[in-house]
Amino acid sequence: MDTKSRIESALEKAVARACGTKAPPRIAEALRHAVFPGGARIRPRLCHAVAAACGDDAPAVTDGAAAALELLHCASLVHDDMPCFDDASLRRGRPSVHALYGESLALLVGDGLIVLAFETIALESVQAPARMAQLISAVAHAVGMPHGIVAGQAWEAEERIDLETYHRAKTGSLFVGSAMAGALAAGADPNPWRLFGDRLGEAYQVADDLRDSVGSAAEIGKPTGQDAAHMRPNAVARLGQGGALHHLRELVGGAIAAIPPCPRAGELEALIMSEAKRLVPKELAQSAA
Ligand code: IPE
Ligand code: IPE
Ligand code: MG
Ligand code: MG
Repeated sequence: MDTKSRIESALEKAVARACGTKAPPRIAEALRHAVFPGGARIRPRLCHAVAAACGDDAPAVTDGAAAALELLHCASLVHDDMPCFDDASLRRGRPSVHALYGESLALLVGDGLIVLAFETIALESVQAPARMAQLISAVAHAVGMPHGIVAGQAWEAEERIDLETYHRAKTGSLFVGSAMAGALAAGADPNPWRLFGDRLGEAYQVADDLRDSVGSAAEIGKPTGQDAAHMRPNAVARLGQGGALHHLRELVGGAIAAIPPCPRAGELEALIMSEAKRLVPKELAQSAA
């Protein structure tokens, strides 16, 4: 099975478990809407790419970890779009969960996805149970307090926000977690992958800031101009368009340079380059060229 099919079938298996015949029908439908069809699935792809670089000797564990990372990402998007955060009614080119199903179900879908993620790691780790504790800990670190997504979103409630600390927590941490989870799922030392994930995550958030400032809702499938509207720190506001693009190129180069020596480094590099190309808004890529 190719990576894309492995990712989608692991997600389908997890979502089917949560949305079985006994589940309340409306939340089951809303939870499915939050996960399918997906976006770029970049976090599980990263987890798979690192696991492959480390031998991927327990593929079911990799599949479970990758699904968990995407379920957590989907949860963060459902909560992020709610009126108490960004109040966005468009996500992945479709109505966001709260816009379609209401706030209370959106809150519960996010909660349900978080629980489902950790349950998935537990259930799918039977092939190599000794890896489960470290996997759970690395993934929890990426999404919780004090350095994970919860902290990242909470920085928005502070008067002073340091752009890098904010980006690292709200986006970078899950990239670090995805890279480290890939190594852990394959029974390898996760530490050499930390810097790589960190640089990649920062690059991804700078690209997202560029898309928010320069892209169109039709192109990126979600509202643009959100950072300015909510007075949030944004790399373009701080560095200008040219400066942010330059910073993005440096971060992408830095991420590639941080790939630890491994047999399949070329595949990882290709994944990063294709994502970097996809993420720069077309209009900006043309004017920069
Ligand atoms: C959007 O993430 C939110 C950020 C943290 C930048 P993605 O751009 O990965 O969203 P999807 O999953 O592809 O829709
Ligand atoms: C989202 O950040 C990061 C999360 C942890 C959900 P943003 O609010 O900047 O991302 P988008 O633009 O809504 O995807
Ligand atoms: Mg937000
Ligand atoms: Mg948002």
